[in-house]
Formats: sequence, structure tokens, C-alpha cells
Amino acid sequence: MCGIVGYIGPKDACPILLKGLHRLEYRGYDSAGVALINNNGSLSVYKSKGKVADLESHIAGKDISGTIGVAHTRWATHGEPNSQNAHPHYSQSRNLALIHNGIIENYKPLKQEMMNHGKVFKSETDTEVLIQFIEYIKELHGCNLFEAVQLALKNVVGAYAIVVIDKDNPNRLIAARKGSPLVIGVGNNEFYIGSDATPIIEYTNKVVYLGEEEIAEMNRQGDLTIVNLENVKQTPIVKTVEMNLSDIEKADFPHYMLKEIFEQPDALFNSMKGRLNIEQKDVLLSGIIDYKDEILKAERIIICACGTSWHAGLIGKYIIEELTRIPVEVEYSSEFRYRNPVVTDKDLVIAISQSGETADTLAAIQLAKDKGAFLYGICNVVGSSIPRATDTGSYLHIGPEIGVASTKAFTAQVTTLMLMALSIAKLRGTITKEYFEELVEELYAIPEKIKKTMELNEKISKYSKIFTYARNFIYLGRGYNYPIALEGALKLKEISYIHAEGYPSAEMKHGPIALIDEEMPVVVIAPAHSKYEKILSNVQEIKARKGKIISVITEGDTAIKELSDIYFEIPATMDCFTPLLTIVPLQLISYYIAIAKGRDVDQPRNLAKSVTVE
Ligand code: F6R
Repeated sequence: MCGIVGYIGPKDACPILLKGLHRLEYRGYDSAGVALINNNGSLSVYKSKGKVADLESHIAGKDISGTIGVAHTRWATHGEPNSQNAHPHYSQSRNLALIHNGIIENYKPLKQEMMNHGKVFKSETDTEVLIQFIEYIKELHGCNLFEAVQLALKNVVGAYAIVVIDKDNPNRLIAARKGSPLVIGVGNNEFYIGSDATPIIEYTNKVVYLGEEEIAEMNRQGDLTIVNLENVKQTPIVKTVEMNLSDIEKADFPHYMLKEIFEQPDALFNSMKGRLNIEQKDVLLSGIIDYKDEILKAERIIICACGTSWHAGLIGKYIIEELTRIPVEVEYSSEFRYRNPVVTDKDLVIAISQSGETADTLAAIQLAKDKGAFLYGICNVVGSSIPRATDTGSYLHIGPEIGVASTKAFTAQVTTLMLMALSIAKLRGTITKEYFEELVEELYAIPEKIKKTMELNEKISKYSKIFTYARNFIYLGRGYNYPIALEGALKLKEISYIHAEGYPSAEMKHGPIALIDEEMPVVVIAPAHSKYEKILSNVQEIKARKGKIISVITEGDTAIKELSDIYFEIPATMDCFTPLLTIVPLQLISYYIAIAKGRDVDQPRNLAKSVTVE
């Protein structure tokens, strides 16, 4: 949440900062701002409500000179989205400027204390409290900015990634983090800062991931000094990021979301590469093989995640239980962390998170760790907090996901859980060799089958427009496709703002059927499998009440096809792999309905890609 960019070096900072903001805009987009130490020595802060494009119009004609600066794109926590509350924030003297991602929990008493010392506030934000406090400490102790930041942060409760600049010292940039991510790009006598590597990679692939409670100082001589809050020097570990510019650009697609939907065949192929060996019909997941004993010891698996990642976890439960016979519980991280759950050292806890930064999931695994569980992370963003906090895990290897609505990360998370289920089942000997090999072969065929499913694109784009009238949608699925009903409904809600609910189809008659009338579109996910006949009866019940039926069925289906107003056919596959195909038309339906309604699909209102606040 919130995008942070910083630069110090020989180049003009402003174009770098604005480009960086565009790259990070998916993290928050209700307001944006930039602070620059201009060539004449003044510290200018420009801010505006709305998107980065609005900020660009706002600064036109103003002094944007300077080779050091910071910039921010906001997802509001404290205070409504307006230009006063946008970052950067000045200190009282206007000598310092700060950008911040996170929440300062004790901002109220700190604000009161600062007001008692005569500080005047211009915004409602916790961030302005922090910069006032830093300046107060600096003045009180007569210390430099680095020391003042260090001292101030010792008194701060909460999460933060911050970058600060000082008008009187245009040769250094100070950054710090706790709980929120911060990446430093290392160039030639220059440094770039980002909430993640996306604003950095076009300049350098050498990065340092700032650690928890670390403070960094960067100067124009190319020196990077890192200490922790206790002032113990830390050695910066420079890593190489494997990300290409093409991974973070839209190419010929109108939106990241559509690009990412279409990337799924390649994404899943990459997720399986080196893990699923088709010649030997085997699965080699190093996250499991390297910790075989710990994994085999597990008497129970608990999956913690939020949102779409939680839906992936639910599919994980179905397949892990089916193949390994280990009981699996799927928990919303936000509930798990606050309800004193029963967790022991016989539990394996799997944290699923695209961003690897979701605050609730991070807290959930911390709690599980304290209770002795073994931790496995399934994440996409390399070097993010969850992979660093877990004992082992698997990266998705699908490249950055930028569209706010998760698509390729979801199918890759499901694929990774399937690989895990296969690996553990093999180790435990809970399925036959023949069945194992059949599953391996079919999983390997899935990317091609997704490609085939993509051929529905035109049909979906044509028919989706019909449903822009709808104010509600119902999604129904059973077994492996019940989580797909939830995920389909979430996709529609978040990007089209149409209310939608997902249900296990047999639950209809226990209440939701009262909603059905000739206006209600009902999406039925009904691939040809063991529960097919049951779903067929549910479809008949809806038809009898004049609901509009949109079905996702297997090629060759006749019964549900006949009852459907619109149907989308997917290739046949084994029951447990159907979610990887059935979700694709649902992603496209949401996309095209949202487009037809004129929504901003890549940046839907009120949302942000990386939820680093609880
Ligand atoms: C929905 C969506 C969110 C995320 C959720 C968890 O499309 O993207 O529901 O799945 O915020 O985020 P991660 O996976 O980064 O932990």
C-alpha cells in the first residue's frame, strides 16, 4: 500500500521519480506528491489529489530542478484523500520532507506532545506527526538527520517504510523500514529507492532489500551505510533482481489485467519449470525435499491467506486432503492472528501471498512461529517479507503482477499447491504410482488447455456487455469449483462494483434461492465431474425461477448447455485441475463487464495491490 520512490545522484530526479510513481501506482492511487531539493537550494513539495497524471499537470511550469528527491502515491489510511493529506509532508520549518508507507499507531499521543511544543499541523495524517517528531528530536539533541531518524523511530509504534530529505543537506537521503518493504537500487554514485523493485529495474538490477528496523543513509559518493535501531552497523547485501522491463509494461494490451490473464499459460509453465519433470513423471519441489523431515512430521496443515490467495488456499485444502490425507484448515490471516488459535509444533503452516507483504498474513505466521509450527511460504515477490519470515517455501516465478485484481498469481498459487500435494503424497505414499503419474501428466498439460480456453475471449467480450444492467450476480460451484465461485464473485465485485456472491451450489435452497428472479444472472461452474448430476438439479431449480444462467461447462456437455442462456466450454481435464480452467472465463467475464461499465480495471476504487496495513 502506498508507493515510495526516491533518488539521489547526478541525474535530474523529477523524471525518475514520476516514472517510478507510474510504475508503483498499482499500490495506491488516491493522491500523489513529489519533494525535490531544487538547484537553487530550496525544498519544493508538490502534491495533488488523484492520480500521478494529475500530479504531472499540477507541476507543469513549476521548478522541478534538482538531483535529489522523494515521491509518493497514496492509499489513504489517516485522513481523506486530498492534497493536504498527500505525501510528502514538510516539517514545521519546511527544511525536511518525508514520505511514508505504513501506520504510526501511537501518532495521537505523539501529536499531542508535538502540539504542546508548538508544532502546527496542516494535515490529518500520522505521517506529518512523524516528520514533526523527527525535526523536534533533531533540534532537541542538535544531531544530524540520520541520528534524529534513528532516535525518533525508537519511540514509534507501528509499521513504516520512510524516506526523508533535508534541505540543508542535499547530499544525502535517509530511509528506514519496519514492517513495510523498501528496496534500494545501487547505481554508479547514485541510489534509487522503491517500495519494490519495479521503479528501479530500468536503471539497475543491483538492489539491497532493507531489513526490519534498519536505517540507511545514501550519499552522492556512492556510500551506503546501514545500521539498526541500536546503531549496530549492518553489511549491505547486494542482490541481482531478475526482472525485465517487459515484465512490467503493458505491451499491446489495453490493461495489465488482460495481459496477466493472457500470460497464464506461460506463467504456469514457468511455475512448473524445474519442478515437474515430465520425462520422469516426477515432481521435485525443493521447498519440500530440503525439509522432508519437518514436512513429514506434520499432523495437520493450516493455510493462512487473505482474499484471492485465501481462495487458492481453499482449493489447496481440497487437493492436499485428497492426495495426502493430512487434515487441512484454511484460515483468514486476519482472524487467525487475533483468536489465540491452537497451533503446535506438529503443524505445518502455509502462508500464501502474491505480494509477500500482506500485514495480516505476516502477523499470522509470526504467531504460528511463536507456537512452534513449521512455516512454508508461497509468494510471488522475490525478497519480500513473507519468504524471509518462513522456514522454506516456493516462489511462483510468474513475473510481477501489476493489475490490482489478482489473476495469474491465483492460478500459479493453485498450481504450486498442487505440486505440494503431489510431492507430499509421494513422500507419504498415500497415492499409487499410476495415479501419481496420471496427475503429473495432466498437470503438465494444463498450460496448453488454458491457451485453448483463452479462445473464449471473443465470445466473452461479446456477451458480457449484456450484463452491465445487473446489480447482483450469483456464482455457484461444488467441490473443487466452490472456491472458484468465490473467486469469480470477488473478481466481479472488485473491478465492476457489481455486488456478487459465491456459494456452494447445494446451499442455494437454504436461503439464496429467494434472490432468484428474471433479473438475476447466475454463473454456474459445472465441468463434467462426479458432482455434475447434482449441479444439473441446482441449475434446473434456478431455471424454474427464471434466473439467467451463464454456465462454464466441459466441451461435449449437453444437459446444462441446453438450460443455459449463455455457456462457455472448457477442455476436459481431471476433476482436481478444473479450477485452473474454469477460473479463466470468469476472469474474462469480470474484465469485460467492468470495461463495458467504464471502470478502471487496473486501479479499481478503494483498492491497492499490496495490503501492508491491517
Ligand atoms: C483480489 C486480490 C486480493 C489479494 C489479497 C491478498 O484480486 O488481489 O484479494 O489476494 O489482498 O494479497 P496477497 O496475495 O498479496 O497477500
